[in-house]
Amino acid sequence: MSASKRLAGEKAIDYVEDGMIVGVGTGSTVAYFIDALARMRDRIGGAVSSSEQSTQHLRGHGIDVLDLNAVGPLPLYVDGADECDPHRRLIKGGGAALTREKIIAEASERFVCIVDPAKQVPVLGRFPLPIEVIPMARSLAARAILAATGGQPVWREGVVTDNGNWILDVHGLSITDPVAMERELNQIPGVVGVGLFARRPADVVIVGGEPPLVL
Ligand code: A5P
Repeated sequence: MSASKRLAGEKAIDYVEDGMIVGVGTGSTVAYFIDALARMRDRIGGAVSSSEQSTQHLRGHGIDVLDLNAVGPLPLYVDGADECDPHRRLIKGGGAALTREKIIAEASERFVCIVDPAKQVPVLGRFPLPIEVIPMARSLAARAILAATGGQPVWREGVVTDNGNWILDVHGLSITDPVAMERELNQIPGVVGVGLFARRPADVVIVGGEPPLVL
């Protein structure tokens, strides 16, 4: 598994061009991308990070971490996923960084998603869908999510996001219309971010292997 993640992470370097400011996601697959990016750190303009975890990793390699507000739209975002369907729509947020990840994906011209083969599914939903909520809205949002989707929201107790919020993981879904579900869940008061990346799917998916598969 980690060999596939490494191969996917290293392949994503093909999309990095000299002078680029690169959007960087979160997770164990992205960690391999960051290690590879470090080898060209003097040729890039820096990175915009989706989490404290990735920020530490980037800075540890001497890569400048920049504020998205200061740099504007990005040419490239590289991130992992928890599930990926044949239309490059994703479930993300297993690492609780989904809201910042979605912001950077939206701000980026090209979103390259790097996954190991186990992440590929015909229909999204076997992986519990992470939803970031304002703490005081946890119960309200959970009831509304149940009513809207029929899935079972489970509080990821003990986890606080980088934004100071909580995560509900929604179990038992089979997401046949991810765009509609993303839109509906986004309208629930107290929901900050939904780990469905359907309205803005990945542009490229790299599945780690020998050789990596580019979809
Ligand atoms: C972080 O919140 C997630 O969206 C990650 O991108 C996702 O969990 C992938 O993680 P791994 O690369 O560790 O499998």
